[in-house]
Parts: sequence; structure tokens; C-alpha cells
Amino acid sequence: MTTYNWDEKHIIRFPEKNVALETKDLHVYYGQNESIKGIDMQFEKNKITALIGPSGSGKSTYLRSLNRMNDTIDIARVTGEILYEGVDVNRPDINVYEMRKHIGMVFQRPNPFAKSIYRNITFAHERAGVKDKKVLDEIVETSLKQAALWDQVKDDLHKSAFTLSGGQQQRLCIARAISVKPDILLMDEPASALDPIATMQLEETMLELKKNYTIIIVTHNMQQAARASDYTAFFYLGDLIEYDETIKIFQNAQLQSTSDYVSGRFG
Ligand SMILES: Nc1ncnc2c1ncn2[C@@H]1O[C@H](COP(=O)(O)OP(=O)(O)OP(=O)(O)O)[C@@H](O)[C@H]1O
Ligand SMILES: [Mg+2]
Repeated sequence: MTTYNWDEKHIIRFPEKNVALETKDLHVYYGQNESIKGIDMQFEKNKITALIGPSGSGKSTYLRSLNRMNDTIDIARVTGEILYEGVDVNRPDINVYEMRKHIGMVFQRPNPFAKSIYRNITFAHERAGVKDKKVLDEIVETSLKQAALWDQVKDDLHKSAFTLSGGQQQRLCIARAISVKPDILLMDEPASALDPIATMQLEETMLELKKNYTIIIVTHNMQQAARASDYTAFFYLGDLIEYDETIKIFQNAQLQSTSDYVSGRFG
């Protein structure tokens, strides 16, 4: 069995003006357990970055910390900085609800509300005080088009979201997330509950979305990472090991552990 030197790292950096989001010395603890061990990482604007690594390496923990989803876990403690437009959104006085309008999330399993397709999207906007039906209609149409779902549902907008297929529900959740016009979209294995065709459609949607959004996606699917992402980050045991252009990670990784992982020889 190969032994690797885990102290060795290869991590790409970007010019400041291209950075959409950045973490500095980010640690996440669950009780006594340190699950993220001080990650310094930048995400480039209007690109898709894939986080890969074996089960338990901390991909979800890291991703969830980026828009403070770990706040809801009592034993979780997050230290370090998460810089978005010059603001550390990890500070205790940040309005998390407002921040999530800028940094949105799509979950592993589609989780539409038990409401109509239309109201899944308008719900948050109505709660925020938008009443004009024309404005709401416009939001619904634009977001469903961006999520590549409009043509399939435009005549059924008032049917329950649960009448949709899994892939369609996931695209509805994407439409819901982008309807508030976030800059950054976090996705944790968004295709894991989808069949291959729905997965391909989701990848096409992501390529379309990156014109307007910065996307960070966790995936276990190496083909998906290779096909859909611009940059790939290899996580292992709570550390960022190698981070570079996707083509380099898959064809010419700097570290043996990375190339062994992406070719299925390890992990
Ligand atoms: N809610 C939690 N409470 C306590 N420990 C947790 C919690 N969530 C994750 N952990 C621990 O943090 C570590 C990283 O887990 P995480 O779910 O981030 O890994 P992952 O890379 O997303 O794995 P997978 O590929 O299986 O989804 C693991 O040791 C896990 O047991
Ligand atoms: Mg995970």
C-alpha cells in the first residue's frame, strides 16, 4: 500500500478581483472532533468548482459552513473567516437570512415545499412583501427558464410540486434557490438522487447557470466533476490537499494521492 505525505499541498490562488468567495483558516469542530482543519481556499467568479474526496473527508461540512448551515447544529463550531465581498460572513453579527440571499444552497435530495410549483418559487418573495402578481409571475418564469424547467411545467404551475419527477423537483429547487438572485450557488451532491439522463440535464443547466452564478458543487461522481467543473478540489480527512484546474487534477495531478484518488486506486 502506498503511503502519502499528507503535509504536501498544491493549492491554486486567483487574482483578488476574480474571487467570489474565500475562506481563511476555516476550522469546523463537532464537539471535540475537528472535521475541517484550517482551510484557505478561494473560489473564482462565474466558474464551477467541484469538491471531491472520500466519504467523511469533510466536503459537506465545508460546503455547509460557507452559508452558515452548520449554525443549526448545536455541537458545531466554526472558526476562521469566510470572506464575501470584503465581509466576513462568519461573524456573529451577520444577518444570516440576508446573507443566504447572496449565497444560496441546493440540497442532495430535492426538497420542494408541499405547495404548488408556482408557490414554491413565490413563497419567499411573498413573505418578503412582494404582492404584485405580474412581478411574481415574472420571477417564476425567469427562474424556471434558467433552471431549464419552464417548458415542461408552464401549463401546470398550480399543480403540486410533488407531481414532478425527481429530476424536475431538483430543478424546481434550483429555480427556487436562484429566484432570489444569489451570486453563489452551493450544491451538495445535487444529482445523487437522479437518473443518468436527469443528471446530464442538470449538468447542462449548471453550464448555463455559470454565466450568472459562481457554483460550488460536491460530487462523488468523478465523470461529473471532470465534465462539468472548471476547478476541482481534493479533500482528505478535513484538509484541502490539491486544488487546481479540473483538467490538471484529472490528467496531471501534482500529488500522488490526488491522481490515485481520481483514478480509483485509493479511497
Ligand atoms: N452533524 C454532525 N455531527 C457530528 N459529526 C459530524 C456531523 N456531520 C459530519 N460529521 C463528521 O464530520 C466529518 C466529515 O463529514 P462530512 O459529512 O462533511 O463528510 P463528506 O466528505 O461530506 O462525506 P460524504 O462523502 O460521505 O458525504 C465526519 O467525520 C463526520 O462523522
Ligand atoms: Mg457529504
